[in-house]
Amino acid sequence: MHQKASIIYQMHPLSMMTAEEIRTSAEILRRSGHIDSNATFHGCCIYEPPKAEVASWVAGDLPDRRLDLVVHSKGETYEARISISRGEVDRWELVPDVIPRVGFLELSKVMDACKSNPDFQKALSERGITDTSTVQIDPWPTGDYGFEFEDGRRVQRCIAFHRPNPDDNGYAFPIDGVMVHVDVDSLEVLHVEDFDQWPMSTEKANYDVDSIVSDYGPLREDLKPVDISQPEGVSFSIEDNQLFWQKWSFRLVMDDTEGLVLHRIAYNQDGVERPIIDRASLAEMVVPYGDTRPSQTFKHALDSGEFGLGMTANSLTLGCDCIGEIVYLDAVQMLDDGSVMSTKNAICIHEEDFGIGWKHTDMLTGQVEVRRSRRLVVSSISTVGNYEYGFFWYFHLDGSIKLEIKLTGILTTRSHRDGDDLTFARQIAPNVAAPIHQHIFCVRLDMAVDGTTNNVIEVNTAALPPGSDNPHGTAFAATETLLSDEKSAMRNTSSASSRYWKIENSHKTNRLGYPTSYRLLPSGTATMFASADSPHGQRAAFAKHNLWVTPTVQSERYAAGDYPTQKNAGHGLPRYTAGNRSITETDVTVWHSFGLTHDVRLEDYPVMPTEYAGFLMVPDGFFERNPAIDVPPSSSGHCH
Ligand code: NI
Repeated sequence: MHQKASIIYQMHPLSMMTAEEIRTSAEILRRSGHIDSNATFHGCCIYEPPKAEVASWVAGDLPDRRLDLVVHSKGETYEARISISRGEVDRWELVPDVIPRVGFLELSKVMDACKSNPDFQKALSERGITDTSTVQIDPWPTGDYGFEFEDGRRVQRCIAFHRPNPDDNGYAFPIDGVMVHVDVDSLEVLHVEDFDQWPMSTEKANYDVDSIVSDYGPLREDLKPVDISQPEGVSFSIEDNQLFWQKWSFRLVMDDTEGLVLHRIAYNQDGVERPIIDRASLAEMVVPYGDTRPSQTFKHALDSGEFGLGMTANSLTLGCDCIGEIVYLDAVQMLDDGSVMSTKNAICIHEEDFGIGWKHTDMLTGQVEVRRSRRLVVSSISTVGNYEYGFFWYFHLDGSIKLEIKLTGILTTRSHRDGDDLTFARQIAPNVAAPIHQHIFCVRLDMAVDGTTNNVIEVNTAALPPGSDNPHGTAFAATETLLSDEKSAMRNTSSASSRYWKIENSHKTNRLGYPTSYRLLPSGTATMFASADSPHGQRAAFAKHNLWVTPTVQSERYAAGDYPTQKNAGHGLPRYTAGNRSITETDVTVWHSFGLTHDVRLEDYPVMPTEYAGFLMVPDGFFERNPAIDVPPSSSGHCH
């Protein structure tokens, strides 16, 4: 047997929380008398001490472990900080005028409330559906459309799909034209909107093996197995939640809201830990729909803040979600009743061969030098309603870091009559279409390139005007612009100028005397199409720019605010940047919004082939030369 990476558990201020800590935090809070048995929980994560405190922590010290909780009690929302180590409530604070995110247990009650409502049942029977057990309810964040009946309430807006058989893909049969607004606390149905009827589709769209074979024909039989083997084991090690691989090190946490969070990403050069990113996380995401039909237009889920990516993380399976020599980490979260939800294999860690790392053939001598590229992959997959989002962080031998978000799952669907205008949707089956929409992610990168005196610079390449110094009109050059304050750092991508941004240390230089830096290379990504003053634009302003830069404040963590459910217009980045603070020669946080415009294809049905969104960070003068120069040649004989 070959060796598996061993996991040694110990306690660090940034260790992942344990089931015991979650249970203890709820107990301490109940014992304190602040809450009664009706209180519900809407957030639970580790308290991250100030960065200096974390940095000065010495191995073997017992940290003061604290959890931050969001509690809904007697109609009010409170934030609590509980010291597990001391058994005390350090903080108990009323947070006025916010709506805590919906809990998973609450969601299933909302579905039941919807199904048992007579007006909704009447709407179903008018569409020929009499058995509510065949109805799938999708609760959606209702947004903020100024409905009086939603005022002061926590509301989910439900749309429905039909499942003639329990295992059917409901998205093949949208029950369009009906929306049900449900109060999450009282479970009252506040409003049933029944605005139109369309023909029900009759074509199934199941995607389990038996259905595929019976509906579409036999599975292909000529795919030979691929086995990934690492006979000497993996090249990484894990201590608690800290990873070490090929000079890289970082800690990882599965946060209830942000999902995967990477702390203290550093590169060890000749025994010196060189920090690059202090904290990398998904700060929010939004999925705005472009369709004007009432059952579609309200959709702009902020899936991270409104549901929680750690709450929706999958339990991954070897050989299916990940292949090769895999090490998994489990994660635990707190459910809305204060109990523990355990997700086994929530984080997948493995190495991948990544093709050619570098190569050259000397044309004169015929000498070939070639090295393989390899990367460490840390990933998790969240299922949020109809969609799957895979978050894949890659660390490479050449010093580059990549985030790739993989989007798959099922399209949400709507109905139409034959011959209807389909400006806002693409047809995917008879009488079924899927609306155009976007997926825009905002990643928060608390940068630390060789320390905390960083600058952010925009680099654009442009052609020079013809003239005596450009006689052939061929000249082009890259120019650098320092982004000096928050307003000037609200920037968008420009593929026409090969635009990128770089984060450099203003005090550290490389051997040639230039500042050490990392480049942020964006993809060709759009911003949000919804206008800035629309409900979508107001609640997810972060998606209106590809780049934002702020001086780092640890509590400024969420791009759409701490409580992005319903009433959050202007919260998050607009509020953080309102004072137009200076961002030079300081600890900077880079917020990068990127994503996909999903103009649906027929091939996205019945289940979507994976689509990709992301960005790359590459060293720029951070190293003295190609950092992968020391990668040894492959040992397999046939390559020489
Ligand atoms: Ni999509």
